Amino acid sequence: MQAIVHERYGEPSEVLRLAEVDRPTASPGEALVRVRAASVHPDVWHVVTGHPYFLRLMGAGVRRPRVPVPGSDLAGVVEAVGPGVTDFEPGDRVFGEVITGHQWKSGGAYAEYASVRTSALAHIPDGISFEQAAATPSSGFLAVQAVDEEGGVTAGKAVLVNGAGGGVGSFAVQLARARGATVTAVDAGPKLDTLRSIGANGVIDYAVEDFTSHENRYDVIIDIPGNRSLGRIRRALTPDGRYVFIGHDRFGGAGSRVFGSAILRFLRMAATGPFVSQRMTGTQTKVEDKLALLAQHLADGSLRPLIDRSFPLAEVPAALEYLASGKPVGKVVIALE
Ligand SMILES: NC(=O)c1ccc[n+]([C@@H]2O[C@H](COP(=O)([O-])OP(=O)(O)OC[C@H]3O[C@@H](n4cnc5c(N)ncnc54)[C@H](OP(=O)(O)O)[C@@H]3O)[C@@H](O)[C@H]2O)c1
Repeated sequence: MQAIVHERYGEPSEVLRLAEVDRPTASPGEALVRVRAASVHPDVWHVVTGHPYFLRLMGAGVRRPRVPVPGSDLAGVVEAVGPGVTDFEPGDRVFGEVITGHQWKSGGAYAEYASVRTSALAHIPDGISFEQAAATPSSGFLAVQAVDEEGGVTAGKAVLVNGAGGGVGSFAVQLARARGATVTAVDAGPKLDTLRSIGANGVIDYAVEDFTSHENRYDVIIDIPGNRSLGRIRRALTPDGRYVFIGHDRFGGAGSRVFGSAILRFLRMAATGPFVSQRMTGTQTKVEDKLALLAQHLADGSLRPLIDRSFPLAEVPAALEYLASGKPVGKVVIALE
């Protein structure tokens, strides 16, 4: 089968190539999926480039990539199931995630076939395309965790999403609106009309205004870039408000080359948290138990993945470079025949 492979870390256009590799098989508890679409997100860029260095110790491979085929989120058709699998059968349209646990490793989604643990798969609802389904798992999971579990967003809450135009943010805006919140979306000027079109009640261009300088106070701030100090964030929150930090390394442009940018902020949050009235937390990446909920949201129309552009399998390097340009609004998708 054809797959995108890399034998070393580096710029996507320099280290990724389309190659013929062995087709995987379905082990016990797994399904072999014929991939029809996959999606890209910043952690795939990190795993391909090997930055920050710390990820190499977290399972990606110290000297070279341990798994040669990158990619985590996918959608496709079940080709075969491994021993013990009863909830899926050949011909089922499915979506999910090839890797489980943290995202700093490769999973093998950028290939014609991938074997996936069925605990990380769900059926694609009728009317949802492979591309929409592939755009959903890890971005949607982080959004559910930020909005529902950490943010506790309910009807009438004032929610601000900083970095709303990206993968996670575009899901978070829609979910918070679905919960009945009033949502302010912060991102670059050219993305703001689209953010209004997916439900944002108000928008702020980060190049023009600093949301922490406003008089407005928010019950929940979901922060992807983490580009304002915790002190300023606390001033923009109500006294019992909640701050949910996701983190973004700006594709190597922010934070340390060894640890990235998020770890220091989490340490500051842990040190400050016990002494303030507001709640400050992060998110984890474990998609399995949220796929059914995401499928339900796709089915009832409360979530519509925002797809900026799709690329063919051979153009994964271009897709990752486009993602890193900061231009996409929503998700960048890989479409296979
Ligand atoms: N998406 C996933 O599936 C996934 C999975 C696991 C983990 N994560 C992690 O979650 C984080 C977010 O991922 P993502 O997919 O949402 O990233 P993304 O698609 O790159 O989106 C980030 C957004 O933040 C905006 N932004 C950058 N600087 C900003 C600022 N100063 N103020 C306001 N907005 C700003 C960016 O706009 P400009 O570039 O135009 O400035 C962009 O729209 C990353 O750390 C990623 O590694 C994501």
